[in-house]
Amino acid sequence: MSNKTWSGRFDEPVSELVKQYTGSIDFDKRLAQADIQGSLAHAQMLHEAGILSAQDLADIRRGMAEIQDDIASGSLQWSLDLEDVHMNIERRLTDKIGDAGKRLHTGRSRNDQVATDIRLWLRGEIDIIRNLIRDLQTALAELAQQHADAVMPGFTHLQVAQPVSFGHHMLAYVEMLGRDDERMADCRKRVNRMPLGAAALAGTTFPIQRETTAKLLDFEQICQNSLDAVSDRDFAIEFTAAASLLMIHLSRLSEELIVWMSPRFGFIDLADRFCTGSSIMPQKKNPDVPELVRGKSGRVIGHLTGLLVLMKSQPLAYNKDNQEDKEPLFDTVDTVRDTLRIYADMMRGVTVKRENMRAAVLQGFATATDLADYLVKRGLPFRDSHEVVARAVRHAEQQGCDLADLALATLQSFSDLIAEDVFAVLTPEGSLNARNHLGGTAPEQVRAQAARWLAALTE
Ligand code: ARG
Repeated sequence: MSNKTWSGRFDEPVSELVKQYTGSIDFDKRLAQADIQGSLAHAQMLHEAGILSAQDLADIRRGMAEIQDDIASGSLQWSLDLEDVHMNIERRLTDKIGDAGKRLHTGRSRNDQVATDIRLWLRGEIDIIRNLIRDLQTALAELAQQHADAVMPGFTHLQVAQPVSFGHHMLAYVEMLGRDDERMADCRKRVNRMPLGAAALAGTTFPIQRETTAKLLDFEQICQNSLDAVSDRDFAIEFTAAASLLMIHLSRLSEELIVWMSPRFGFIDLADRFCTGSSIMPQKKNPDVPELVRGKSGRVIGHLTGLLVLMKSQPLAYNKDNQEDKEPLFDTVDTVRDTLRIYADMMRGVTVKRENMRAAVLQGFATATDLADYLVKRGLPFRDSHEVVARAVRHAEQQGCDLADLALATLQSFSDLIAEDVFAVLTPEGSLNARNHLGGTAPEQVRAQAARWLAALTE
């Protein structure tokens, strides 16, 4: 079966190797539904514009319905001889309905067709991804609500800094994912523009009605320049950039889960179904899922780089280079979808080991800043108070105890401004409760933020 769609001017068929090298059916068959949807809208517009007869339109609809059944039942055999999804479907259609199938491509080119298909497909995927982001946010916000008063060390430089609530830490990721969701929604606006009608590059001589097609396909806008419409893939790059940021956020959480699960920390445990054992070390329970998320973030960033370089320096208008947009885009979507799905399940199965977190807070002089603030509130300039506390910490370190374990008289030897009420600020709980303002880690604030998110997420 030679490719009669364009082979009329050639003396010899393409070589087997070139056919394989240039064909895209193995991967772009994934666009079949979008391709059929686009073709049906195009055919209806052609009919409304008086370019295609009612009979032809009816035949095209019937043929496409059969093709959809064939795809669903798996009886449609995709053929590399027909190069890509567009020509495979068109040929099946023509086999089924005759000449009407050959008229479908009037006023259209594969260049505007493929650009339309990818946008239709990606638009749907963005909607699925946004729902998955929100489900993960819900899982994290619920965890935050449950553990609003669980103290853990907050770190800077991975050194114990100040006590924070575990819930507060979870909500940091809810915020990041909230921005990821916003970016997806924003990017969708630019995905949701219709190239169809640009034809090969310059538009068409037929009296097409692009508004009609756009309405049928639920496109928000119509691409206003035919050369731009068929050639740019910036919308795919934008999506992959948003996906990369999302994966980077999840890679950060993954890194923390991995560290927290190591017996040295023992802050959390992941459910066994997200971990694997070692074939040689019987004691091991490895956090494979977060490790793979961390690894797969590299893969998505790689796709972003690939797409950027694919687009770079391409002259207008369409170039075959653009066929290379699909595999990275498909893999980005699959990776992000799988990752979000598994992550929400995994977070719903996390065990939070509150005692271990609290014990770690007590080992790192996490309330030193609280003592410094206490002295400032009693009139000592902050720089002096910093110095006083540093000496007290050094002493406690030598004694091998926490600041709160020092006797009042000992503490007073560093500053006579210290009184009995100092112990209230030296406990991790006192430290948390003291940060009771918008964005602070006090359990009251964390509960309010978790409630705000949960309400927004169920809207
Ligand atoms: N399979 C092609 C792609 O993905 C479809 C467009 C082909 N256009 C062309 N002029 N060869 O880009």
